[in-house]
Amino acid sequence: MTCDLVSIADLSDAEVSGLLDAAEAFAADVRAHAARRRDAVLATLFLEPSTRTRLSFEAAMLRLGGRVVTSSDAKSSSSSKGETLADTVRMVDGYADAIVLRHPSAGAARLAADVARRPVINGGDGGREHPTQTLVDLFTLRRRFGRLRGLTVVLWGDLRYGRTTHSLAEALVRFGARALLLAEPGLEFPADVLEHVVAGGAKAVPVRATGVEGLFGGTAPAAVLLGRDDPTDGVYRFDREPPDAVYVTRVQAERLPGGATAVRRLPVVDRALLGHPAFAGTAILHPLPRVGEISPEIDGDPRALYFQQAEAGVPVRMALLDAVLGGRPFGGARDAEPAPGFRCAAPACIGVAEAVPPLLTKNGRRCGYCGAGDRSR
Ligand code: NCD
Repeated sequence: MTCDLVSIADLSDAEVSGLLDAAEAFAADVRAHAARRRDAVLATLFLEPSTRTRLSFEAAMLRLGGRVVTSSDAKSSSSSKGETLADTVRMVDGYADAIVLRHPSAGAARLAADVARRPVINGGDGGREHPTQTLVDLFTLRRRFGRLRGLTVVLWGDLRYGRTTHSLAEALVRFGARALLLAEPGLEFPADVLEHVVAGGAKAVPVRATGVEGLFGGTAPAAVLLGRDDPTDGVYRFDREPPDAVYVTRVQAERLPGGATAVRRLPVVDRALLGHPAFAGTAILHPLPRVGEISPEIDGDPRALYFQQAEAGVPVRMALLDAVLGGRPFGGARDAEPAPGFRCAAPACIGVAEAVPPLLTKNGRRCGYCGAGDRSR
């Protein structure tokens, strides 16, 4: 048993809270902990582009007194020669005390964790999950509001391929917050992730978002309200329930099938939008990079938290690395079981990219790597 972090579900609520508390302590002075994990070695294996996630993990390891080996360019790693992920991970496992992996295929971190003896942390697996970004997001929200319970957070943009929103929606609901899913048309939140969050006790209610029609070309946009509350009457009234935060995401153009381009319909978050009474007290978050969704003209606004959010990556990842290197397995529930004979056909799945031991979710309905498919029908 190692303390892998593949999915936000791998962490119990108490573990998430404990990591956020530890991150607060590290954030008080990130320079004061250089003796804590002296000589530990972290491998950052990034087979997909990254700036914040890789650099903040590496800074976090260095701040803890450890060292880092990195492979940050898929073209310069042996995967470009045809080496399988499983083989690459088996090797790196012998070089380091923990591995952070980013990979373009959904389920890659699950595979790596199952292959490696050392802890594997998911730094983003295709369009599926990004649990460490969620810890950063929760930390930022908790710092601003002093709590998570009772918050309403609008998840805005590409909710289909935006992996950060998948992990975040689950965590928000677990901590008693609500997520209003406001997607670009055609880039709605994936059914399997929604099903997973609902199976955890949430209700998902389709709503019309009223009170902001002027910003949305005169119509009330369609959304889904996700939370533990009783169902609404099918309307979310921005004027009566202004959201605490809007979590903006970019369209993940690199994941759109066949070089498709998405039409962006949601308004740019700019000074005019923040001037609307519905957003008078609303914090603006973004995992970054932004590519036009948020105008730089609001960067100095006290509601704009995205650069603080990025900076929080270091203390939050210090807390996570410290826990992982401490060696106690995480207590969340694993939702993937061996399934001899099953083979996933979803193009984005690691099981299509290479031969992997087949896995299904515990309910037997979906691929245990990528979540695709519904075998109940
Ligand atoms: C995000 C990611 O890689 O999923 N970036 C990040 O890690 N902060 C968001 C994105 O790329 O849009």
